[in-house]
Amino acid sequence: MDCPGDWPEPIVRVQSLSESCNDAIPERYVKPPEARPLLGSTLDANIPLIDLGGLHDDSLREATLGHVSEACREWGFFMVVNHGISDELLDRAREVWRQFFHQPMEVKQAYANSPKTYEGYGSRLGVEKGAVLDWSDYYYLHYLPCNLRDFNKWPALPNHLREVIAEYSAEIVRLGGVLLKILSINLGLSENFLQNAFGGSDIGACLRVNFYPKCPQPDLTLGLSSHSDPGGMTFLLPDQHVPGLQVRRGDGWITVKPAPHALIVNIGDQIQVLSNATYKSVEHRVIVNSAQERISLAYFYNPKSDLLIKPAKELVTPDSPALYSAMTFDEYRLYIRTKGPRGKSQLGESLKSSR
Ligand code: OGA
Ligand code: NI
Repeated sequence: MDCPGDWPEPIVRVQSLSESCNDAIPERYVKPPEARPLLGSTLDANIPLIDLGGLHDDSLREATLGHVSEACREWGFFMVVNHGISDELLDRAREVWRQFFHQPMEVKQAYANSPKTYEGYGSRLGVEKGAVLDWSDYYYLHYLPCNLRDFNKWPALPNHLREVIAEYSAEIVRLGGVLLKILSINLGLSENFLQNAFGGSDIGACLRVNFYPKCPQPDLTLGLSSHSDPGGMTFLLPDQHVPGLQVRRGDGWITVKPAPHALIVNIGDQIQVLSNATYKSVEHRVIVNSAQERISLAYFYNPKSDLLIKPAKELVTPDSPALYSAMTFDEYRLYIRTKGPRGKSQLGESLKSSR
């Protein structure tokens, strides 16, 4: 199976729709009742907040590892502060992308993407003709592996975007390495286990910047449908003013309230597989609103795409047999790239509230 060369239908930019559609959204964006934001309970809770500063303090290190361990097992999602990336760099990274999306349409269209690689300026995930669409545009680019890094595919404008994003990317990759070590130790494996399973220094790192325009009927649609992230681990820099990310908790949803300059970390499907489901890749979705646009930077830290990923043999016992068979990440991600976000159906789990 290969991804088709082009989109099945003409692409409509949600940002343009948001400006032209007045008070009703087009039918194509209206979700079936069971997938709408108001169905299902919203819980008044937040995901765990972890101070990674504790890793550098001998008296706090064990407790910090414990907090990460519990968050990975019980939530699949947590926020980190004192992660080593300066507040100023986080703000600049968000700001250059906000400027990108506020440029004239023809500037952005020069980077229009196709389903072949998804790189560039996009407005849909999945290529199924007639699919219900999400209320968002995005920009997708590769940082690692190096041979996929092509600065010509990164926006030339606004000025400084490329250098700010290169600097931000290097920091995220550093932090990804730190967290993979912690997760490996917490799983009782050697500290380099996950990094090696991901391909050592040949990992993949790619950024999807999500832009959620204002929506006149936010109760009928979603900015991003329920899904779990197919890759290894995700680092999300959320909007500093506008909430929107919801994380599944049992039958309900938690709206994440980000701490200032926190990064949101979540376990992706590949770590669920490698950990033989000790750690769960948890479903999440994004709601939109009529008052304010929202922007987020989702950094995906992934295994090298042609390595076979399977449960670590140390975690497979007669009592806990391997739950997944070996698959490369290349094979795995074709599913979401073809069908679009669909809950957790890819790992054989129920579709629950997705479409
Ligand atoms: C994603 C994602 C959440 C957000 O890009 O995979 O889940 O808040 N984004 O934009
Ligand atoms: Ni996601």
